[in-house]
Amino acid sequence: MLRGMAITLSLEGKTAIVTGGGRGIGKAITARLAEAGANVVIASRKLENLETTAAELADLGPRIVPVQCHVGEAEQIEALVSRTESEVGPVDIVVNNSATNLGQGSSLDATGAMLDKMMNVNVKAAMNLVHRVVPSMRERGGGSIINISSISGFQPQPGGLLYSFTKAGLNMLTRTWAREFGRWNVRVNGIAPGLIKTDFSRYFWDDEARRDKLVGDQPLQRLGQPSDIGFAAAYLASEEAAFMTGQTLVIDGGVLA
Ligand SMILES: NC(=O)c1ccc[n+]([C@@H]2O[C@H](COP(=O)([O-])OP(=O)(O)OC[C@H]3O[C@@H](n4cnc5c(N)ncnc54)[C@H](OP(=O)(O)O)[C@@H]3O)[C@@H](O)[C@H]2O)c1
Repeated sequence: MLRGMAITLSLEGKTAIVTGGGRGIGKAITARLAEAGANVVIASRKLENLETTAAELADLGPRIVPVQCHVGEAEQIEALVSRTESEVGPVDIVVNNSATNLGQGSSLDATGAMLDKMMNVNVKAAMNLVHRVVPSMRERGGGSIINISSISGFQPQPGGLLYSFTKAGLNMLTRTWAREFGRWNVRVNGIAPGLIKTDFSRYFWDDEARRDKLVGDQPLQRLGQPSDIGFAAAYLASEEAAFMTGQTLVIDGGVLA
């Protein structure tokens, strides 16, 4: 049946958690999920910023609920999910978006302590959150997990070894979880952005010469915006992507092409 299938992209009645949903890419994802009808719990360390974002986006969807959470602390992940379940509903969608980068530099200057911290926030947080929500998704017949990776997870970034390393790890979580959880209709996909204009990537776009060089080398010659990522997350979360799992969508202005 090819006629009469209007694109409906609806997340009505769904509950989503977006880590780092208060700003940058996470905020754009929150806006799109809310617009599609989901209740969205946004979680990160700075409650005040989350509250401002929740108020700013309040008219877009049913509920946007700010919850303070350091995702690198396992007990805070537990508290986040328990509170979401009791105050909003069982979790249908998780967007693992929070990340940290302790800075660019020679790989010879990278330390074990830096690696531990970055693994904790960029990889272990996703693992703890997924371990907590998947049993309930399985019981209820499915769910959607979206890991925000980076093109640095696919290609080495000189001066950014630890960040690339954690994102490559996240890509492997996406693929392995997809294979393990598919039988329960729990889909796991990722998004790998290129250079998007946020606080996180300030080093790459603040300096005009550095930015012009990077953007000039891209097929699409502009900086990406958080809004370039939001709709893809809504799509991956929705029934429109019901047969898609184990993939990481690259949205990078053509860099990896
Ligand atoms: N911008 C780019 O060019 C680019 C490119 C590729 C991939 N990405 C990825 O996109 C995602 C979002 O980044 P962004 O560019 O939107 O950066 P951003 O604006 O700096 O946002 C980062 C978010 O992570 C949260 N966060 C950081 N540490 C946390 C922690 N310990 N616990 C909880 N939340 C924490 C921050 O909130 P709090 O400060 O309130 O905790 C913030 O909301 C990241 O996974 C990043 O790796 C970005």
